[in-house]
Amino acid sequence: MSIQLTLSTCAVRSWRTADVDSLARYADNRKIWINLRDAFPHPYTKRDAREYIRGVRLRLPETSFAIAVGEEAVGGVGFVLHQDVERVSAEIGYWLGEPFWGRGICTDALTAVTQHAIAAHGLTRIYAVPFAWNTASCRVLEKAGYVLEARLRRSAIKNDAITDQLQ
Ligand SMILES: CC(C)(COP(=O)(O)OP(=O)(O)OC[C@H]1O[C@@H](n2cnc3c(N)ncnc32)[C@H](O)[C@@H]1OP(=O)(O)O)[C@@H](O)C(=O)NCCC(=O)NCCS
Repeated sequence: MSIQLTLSTCAVRSWRTADVDSLARYADNRKIWINLRDAFPHPYTKRDAREYIRGVRLRLPETSFAIAVGEEAVGGVGFVLHQDVERVSAEIGYWLGEPFWGRGICTDALTAVTQHAIAAHGLTRIYAVPFAWNTASCRVLEKAGYVLEARLRRSAIKNDAITDQLQ
């Protein structure tokens, strides 16, 4: 079952094999990489894009989606379902190609995928842990209805720097 959420600024849909070129184009950006987990490669090659899309298309349930403007995949949003007694919780993450920043696209996508994740997987909790410096991401979370719960002091290392995360 593939997903298609049509929103006012964008669509959230399943990744397609044909998205390899646009994924590599927009994901290959240090300003995006610096704000994400190290599993997100930098530089981001077409081979990385091909492997990523092949992987997400094999995985069920589907929890990683493209953010599309027109036909083009310009970002990604996805969640990780937790296990065992935390199976009612998930962590959400997202990124958007730089030319599309500041148009409310990520707020739209995050709001819709949050609702989808809660409904489709019976979640009682969904959260994100942006690095403390990531004001834009914190703002997006607030606009999508998320509430600041904690500052996780010195909880992560990115680009060789220890940083706080905001839950
Ligand atoms: C964070 C990101 C997803 C935002 O996407 P977006 O579509 O541009 O976000 P929106 O347009 O929906 O909203 C951005 C909000 O942040 C605000 N903002 C942007 N840069 C800011 C900054 N440096 N300081 C304060 N606020 C900022 C905008 O003004 C806007 O808020 P407003 O509507 O109240 O004016 C995008 O910048 C991105 O992909 N960044 C790199 C990857 C990343 O950080 N992912 C999240 C990891 S936790």
